[in-house]
Amino acid sequence: MEKDNFNRRDFLKTSFKSLAVGTIALSALDVKKLFAESAAETKSETESAAKVISISEHPELSSVGGYIITGNYFIKRTGDSKFLVLSIICSHKKCDVDYTGEGFECPCHGSTYSSTGKVLQGPAKKNLKSYKATYDAEKNTLTIN
Ligand code: FES
Repeated sequence: MEKDNFNRRDFLKTSFKSLAVGTIALSALDVKKLFAESAAETKSETESAAKVISISEHPELSSVGGYIITGNYFIKRTGDSKFLVLSIICSHKKCDVDYTGEGFECPCHGSTYSSTGKVLQGPAKKNLKSYKATYDAEKNTLTIN
């Protein structure tokens, strides 16, 4: 009888430990998967979602040479129906860059970029991300893809 109780207790202890380890391992995997899926969704959302800018709401963009910074975008009108759209996120470690009027400077580690987002000085190695933008003259809107 004594031996039976002991075995039952050992069995329960072992079962509980196995269950706990299994649950923790599974949870860790699920959390990892969840983070990966969440990151992928966020990335695809930001990459696939088109942003529409109403030019009439941004009078700075009404004339060639005018620019705005909205969200993570630097938008400059470069022609009657042409716009330059760049990310203001530094390609080095993702600080926001500052527009100097002639180019961009990163306050974090000193990278500089040309007015078109090309790296002039590191540590950044990649240019600022540029976006395709389509101007709709009828609606007076700019769609950023
Ligand atoms: S984050 Fe811009 S230079 Fe490092």
